[in-house]
Amino acid sequence: MRTALSFDDVLLVPQYSDVQTRSNIEIKQELKKVGTYSLPIISSPMDTITGEAMAMAMNESGGTAILHRYNNIDEQSRMVMNLTSKGLSIGAAIGIGDDCIERALALTRAGVTFLCIDVAHGHHSKVQKALKELRHVIGEEMHIMAGNVATLEAFNDLADWGADSIRVGIGGGSICSTRIQTGHGMPTLQSIMDCAQSDRDATLIADGGIRTSGDIVKALAAGADFVMLGSLLAGTDETPGIVIDTRDGRKKVYRGMASRQAQWKWRNRVSSVEGISHTVPLKGPAAEVLEELRIGIRSGISYSGATNVTSFQSKANFIQQTTSGQVESSTHIKRI
Ligand code: IMP
Repeated sequence: MRTALSFDDVLLVPQYSDVQTRSNIEIKQELKKVGTYSLPIISSPMDTITGEAMAMAMNESGGTAILHRYNNIDEQSRMVMNLTSKGLSIGAAIGIGDDCIERALALTRAGVTFLCIDVAHGHHSKVQKALKELRHVIGEEMHIMAGNVATLEAFNDLADWGADSIRVGIGGGSICSTRIQTGHGMPTLQSIMDCAQSDRDATLIADGGIRTSGDIVKALAAGADFVMLGSLLAGTDETPGIVIDTRDGRKKVYRGMASRQAQWKWRNRVSSVEGISHTVPLKGPAAEVLEELRIGIRSGISYSGATNVTSFQSKANFIQQTTSGQVESSTHIKRI
């Protein structure tokens, strides 16, 4: 049986560096057919993460955002229009249900920058069918992201079916209970490492389980082109939802889209519950969180003596760490 590794199982070996200042480290990345982003971070299409305010914040920080699909077509299209008039780059999520094509056409008319087929198990014949139909009605020019997948075989299939970028990671999300409910999944870092072996020209978006800038650095080192974030942005001012006063301070809800609460809200029924709903402390402006991440990513790349993401990916040297290494790797003053 194969062993699969995740973020905490590995470290990157520090290497000789002649980087004079970390601000010289280039972390811009390209999304095919769309353009270049100065920060390789995308906010997740979840109803407690990405609405209009988050889309604006992500753009201002140099990344991008994907508007969630848990609303009606008019509401989502109006959001896209509000943002693309302002000249912002914005993705929008669609499902594979009955309204897939109608929604995609409406979003395209509204000027959406790219589309994202947003399903839990992307290696599925329905995704193949949706991609085929979308290419037929929308054409080749539109960047279409799809996912999620966990394996190289799935990554290659989605690329062959017409996806320009692919979300990699199943069961690793902070609010995800897929592995508990179904017994299926794969540690996110392993999925990234496997999918990065692909010879297809598709962009790899690491998604789920990213908790720190260190995890982002490891994801990029393993071959991700961009990372997608949920929990790291949860609780920021720009997330949709109300502020709740609790005994432990002011909080906001962050929930999985397959949680009982989210399913009731968007489809008035609950089937397989594969996520949880949680409250998280307020974090202030997303820009501050993103700036800290930018600094951490640049610092991480400099520890490998690299100056951009491409040279970092070729130089990065992973080692597996033991349980005592994991303890040493987290702050541990209280244990002494
Ligand atoms: P996080 O950054 O670790 O919080 O993970 C966010 C990711 O979890 C999203 O981008 C989705 O891929 C995934 N996700 C969102 N909702 C659910 C759910 O209800 N169950 C499982 N995965 C989810």
